[in-house]
Amino acid sequence: MNHIIVNGKVSKGTINKNIYGQFTEHLGRCVYEGIYVKDEDNIPNVNGIRSDVLGALKNIEVPLVRWPGGCFADTYHWKDGIGPKKDRKTIVNTNWGGVTEDNSFGTHEFMEFASQLGCDVYLSGNVGSGTVQELSDWIEYCNMGGISPMANLRRENGREEPWNVKYWGIGNEAWGCGGNMSAEYYSDEARKFATYMRNYDNEHPIYKIASGSNGPDFNWTKTVCERAGHMIDAITFHYYTVTYDWNNKGKATGFTKDEYYRLLHNTLNIENMINNHSNIIKQYETKDHKIGLIIDEWGTWFDVEDGTNPGFLYQQNSIRDAVLAGINLNIFNNHCDTVVMTNIAQMINVLQAMILTDGDKMVLTPTYHVYDLYKKHMNANHLESYVDADILNDQEELKVPRLNVSASCKDGKALVTVVNLSESEMADVDVILSGLKASSVSGRCVTGDMGDYNSFEKPDVVGIRSIDAAVAEDGCSFKASLPKNSVCAFEVVLK
Ligand code: AHR
Repeated sequence: MNHIIVNGKVSKGTINKNIYGQFTEHLGRCVYEGIYVKDEDNIPNVNGIRSDVLGALKNIEVPLVRWPGGCFADTYHWKDGIGPKKDRKTIVNTNWGGVTEDNSFGTHEFMEFASQLGCDVYLSGNVGSGTVQELSDWIEYCNMGGISPMANLRRENGREEPWNVKYWGIGNEAWGCGGNMSAEYYSDEARKFATYMRNYDNEHPIYKIASGSNGPDFNWTKTVCERAGHMIDAITFHYYTVTYDWNNKGKATGFTKDEYYRLLHNTLNIENMINNHSNIIKQYETKDHKIGLIIDEWGTWFDVEDGTNPGFLYQQNSIRDAVLAGINLNIFNNHCDTVVMTNIAQMINVLQAMILTDGDKMVLTPTYHVYDLYKKHMNANHLESYVDADILNDQEELKVPRLNVSASCKDGKALVTVVNLSESEMADVDVILSGLKASSVSGRCVTGDMGDYNSFEKPDVVGIRSIDAAVAEDGCSFKASLPKNSVCAFEVVLK
């Protein structure tokens, strides 16, 4: 029997709903086809936003979406994407497949999508090839309520009220596709850009997000916090999980058992990243000025599916992705005292997607179902939890813990999410509720063979199913048997 302890007396605070944020870039078929369709596509939509995709995203209660990139953001000039569509300039998407971007999906269309979805937005500003004036103007365009050149332009384009966009990124991957800058140079740029990123409404102050490091580049975080920390609200880092390395990312399906464990072993390293970046950030915080940690790109990155454009980053999504998502989300929940937002890459048709589309067909991925299982963690009070179980595998690069957990509490109910990482063995668990008393428990999980996935031909191979769980007579614990390769969520009604 494995044991899990949920400690009702120790919490790291509220789990920010934005930990469940998403990312959409003008990349491959994420925006065009994925979110936004044209009349001639004959796909049901409202103002161009696909109705099937929107309905699915509403179900997982997406709290926030980052847009327009990614690398695309540092080539994007927002004024190309406003005004009558026939007059919009076309550009070449030089980062992603060299395709022509007609700018038919711009600021108004993205805000329409967010409004239909009922979520917040996070706009990434162009620092690499843009100007301070351009980003400053975009903020004025979105947020100025009174009379001003940009507010007037917004009205001419049909939008009277400001959108009051809170989250603004100061570039993306400034160390790479966002300008190949040194940490020192970027820090100065960030200070300069941040100076002209104004508040237009004191009731809706903006939140400035500095472009962070590539995974373990801790010197980047230190330098930016030291030089520009007083002018930003948060700093990011990106962490993608590949099977071997960037030259051998591995396959999304048809992988071996060793590759299954290797990928999970690699993803667990994100916890070290969070700890190290957080420790650095803390040194530059003051009582009155906190700096949040944001992981605005994370997830699996595999070789693209055969026959697809290599620049479109289209990959399938299996039970292994679900297990990986469950682990990462548990880790983020357990670091909610420093991690204020994350954005899985990317929402539709790109990398570790929630949804795949093909013409008018749509498939929900195993990862989507994990977001569904975890959604009640959003804005809940985190509860400390501990696992008492063994480590799987002897070979160092395949070692993973058997179980991974996080817990939270809201409205008289606790949510305990547990991942069973074993590819072949179910796990009996006794979940001890310390300082809590349960009256009932219900369990649901995503499970299957490690390589199972949903295709357009067979869209329901992986879904959510219920599993048995039983509360002990004294209400102080519950027992369940977790299937192999499973992500399980137990909702506990508290006395
Ligand atoms: O998500 C795909 C790309 O990965 C993003 O454009 C970039 O920021 C990162 O390198």
